[in-house]
Amino acid sequence: MHRNIKIIDLFAGIGGIRLGFENASKRKIDCVFTSEWDKYSKETYQANYNNEDVFGDITQIDENEVPEHDVLLAGFPCQPFSQAGLKKGFSDTRGTLFFDIERILIHRKPQAFLLENVKQLRGHDKGRTLKTIISHLKKIGYNNVQHEVLRARDFGLPQNRERIYIVGFLDDTIKFEFPKPTFEPTKVGDILEQNVDDKYTISDKLWAGHQRRKRENKLKGKGFGYGMVSENSEYTNTLSARYYKDGSEVLIQQKDKNPRKLTPRECARLQGFPDTFKIPVSNTQAYRQFGNSVPVKVIEKVAKQMIKHLNLGVEKKKASRITTHIKNSNSHSDTKVIAYNGVN
Ligand SMILES: C[S@@+](CC[C@H](N)C(=O)[O-])C[C@H]1O[C@@H](n2cnc3c(N)ncnc32)[C@H](O)[C@@H]1O
Repeated sequence: MHRNIKIIDLFAGIGGIRLGFENASKRKIDCVFTSEWDKYSKETYQANYNNEDVFGDITQIDENEVPEHDVLLAGFPCQPFSQAGLKKGFSDTRGTLFFDIERILIHRKPQAFLLENVKQLRGHDKGRTLKTIISHLKKIGYNNVQHEVLRARDFGLPQNRERIYIVGFLDDTIKFEFPKPTFEPTKVGDILEQNVDDKYTISDKLWAGHQRRKRENKLKGKGFGYGMVSENSEYTNTLSARYYKDGSEVLIQQKDKNPRKLTPRECARLQGFPDTFKIPVSNTQAYRQFGNSVPVKVIEKVAKQMIKHLNLGVEKKKASRITTHIKNSNSHSDTKVIAYNGVN
């Protein structure tokens, strides 16, 4: 008898990674812990996930309070690691949000994790940030770790969103493979609503500003400024968290009118959220939340590839933990060093 899959949802936003994971599994997913500190994201999360508890600032949550789980999910903000810290070994990611993922992985040793971040993480700080993340994951027992940049439009969503996905397993013998692109044809018209209110049509002033900036950028040999699409376009630019400001990255062409912005529901669809997904917040918050979220279809494909390798027949073997305290030679404070049998 197979048991349910236990996940935790960190930096949960509105739960896009969780949704992809749930869609991927025939088996029930038990989300045993969620952390998200933004009030409005929590509101959307709870409206869609049975008003479940959502814990706040992860940096303030002791890893002992995080329940055992099979898979850790996290779309974490990208931050640089200090060079000074890097020389100190184990503590080198301290002060960043990756450190909070790391300490939970060390403490709970889930079978697997899925981390998501912007594509630019690859080149961030001349590649050092990603290198540090990977080497830390290996050091704490996840030697079997891989990363890949995947594009939403290669997986059936009409959006050119590229994100890096980092997947790791505790079991070295697992041969995980990222999903292959499906290359299903995509069309912006598929996510558009009918009879959209005129309030989404941008003002003459905003439209003139977009056109002026585009002309100026062109003269300077810079990028293009706004991105205009029609219902027949294959895909849009990447939806960003700042879309609510002026909508410049995705404008929809209209006949005999200024172009319009996407509606929040269209943003949800562009990320692969179903129409049953509730949007209880203001438009501004909704744009921010969907822009920050993930292409659910891509997560679903990655999750499918992960789930087939999970061991759900028996309760997972607990890693035995050795905790010692050593004196930090560089300071007068004690540093806690945690090591795991066979993985340090
Ligand atoms: C890139 S978004 C993740 C979006 C998410 N994957 C989704 O599908 O909606 C990062 C999230 O981390 C949250 N966050 C940042 N720092 C946090 C912290 N210290 N504790 C809890 N949440 C935090 C932000 O509010 C934001 O919603």
